[in-house]
Amino acid sequence: MFITLEGSEGAGKSTLIEHLKKYFLKRNIDFIFTKEPGGTDEGIEFRKILLDNNIELDPLSETFLLLADRIEHVRKIINPALELNKNVLSDRYLDSTYAYQGAGRKINKDKLDKLIKPLKFPEPDLTIYLDLPVEEGLKRAKGRDSLDRFEKEEIDFFKRIRDSYLKLAEENPSRIFTIDSANGENEVFESAKDCIEKKLNES
Ligand code: TMP
Repeated sequence: MFITLEGSEGAGKSTLIEHLKKYFLKRNIDFIFTKEPGGTDEGIEFRKILLDNNIELDPLSETFLLLADRIEHVRKIINPALELNKNVLSDRYLDSTYAYQGAGRKINKDKLDKLIKPLKFPEPDLTIYLDLPVEEGLKRAKGRDSLDRFEKEEIDFFKRIRDSYLKLAEENPSRIFTIDSANGENEVFESAKDCIEKKLNES
């Protein structure tokens, strides 16, 4: 089972992951938790460049770095785990690229498709999208120590990203499950856990 978690800045992905890790450990359900960018040793190096706010990148360079990160991630972590029938949960994956580089950085969808489709990345069985109004998310994210190269973008960048996620969810109702992240963290966890367990029982 391949599950991905998506959401904009401050949507509560990290908190949800901590709850899910504890829950699945307690229930003895084996899950590999991983993330993008930075799910492999090589990816950690790509992530440093991608988040460094002293580095200025063309949107296409940014996209190629993210795709390089994903190629390594899929080849070294995701595919080997799926071949062994393991459960994988990735904090961010393909939808992030369509939301951030497509809508956020305004790279045309056809152009992104032409770059991404030939790479034949595996499709997630389930994607959990944590939705939150942009102002609320940024308030949470900006409370952190320092802002990275994405977090320092203008509010409109994040509005385009949220709209894009909502559109992706509308277009892929059988894959993407949206959770209102304005609900408390326990409620968000309960919804995500129920949804994942339902999917695990179906498989
Ligand atoms: P994180 O803070 O959730 O770990 O993600 C780091 C940043 O990477 C986040 O601001 C979103 C960005 N990102 C993209 O822009 N496109 C992508 O395809 C992925 C995977 C992440």
